[in-house]
Amino acid sequence: MTDRSWRCPIRLRTGLGTAALLAAALLTAGALAQEGDVEAGREKAAPCAACHGPNGISSNPLWPNLAGQHEAYLAKQIRDFRDGAREDISMQPFVAQLSEQDIADLAAFYASLPAGG
Ligand code: HEC
Repeated sequence: MTDRSWRCPIRLRTGLGTAALLAAALLTAGALAQEGDVEAGREKAAPCAACHGPNGISSNPLWPNLAGQHEAYLAKQIRDFRDGAREDISMQPFVAQLSEQDIADLAAFYASLPAGG
């Protein structure tokens, strides 16, 4: 088992496989961890303000406050509404067309607002 001409090709293949896996993992992580832009989110949130309030504080007890909520949670809920995993008839039309970037921006915006209004 000390024959180098036998061991080399295997080590090479293992190395390439690891590199490919690492690259795939990095690409996936990049796709999931979209950077949210608070200012872009503020503009995109204009239609949401009708129910969730301009400051993310709702005036109707049936509409949740969003101000100061965790960013990752907000993004997940918006995505779930968009994809149908969470259903609400009043939310669905407003999120149906959102891109991953829109969702990241909206989540960043609402998370940036003070929870007390
Ligand atoms: C017509 C009113 C209305 C509009 C407009 C609206 N929402 Fe909602 N939203 C709701 C209601 C009602 C719920 C609670 C649904 C439920 O009970 O599951 C909700 C829930 C949410 C939640 C989940 C909150 C939590 O604590 O789980 C998020 C996040 C959210 N909305 C974001 C948005 C965003 C972003 C927009 C604009 C793109 C928007 N909403 C527009 C009514 C609205």
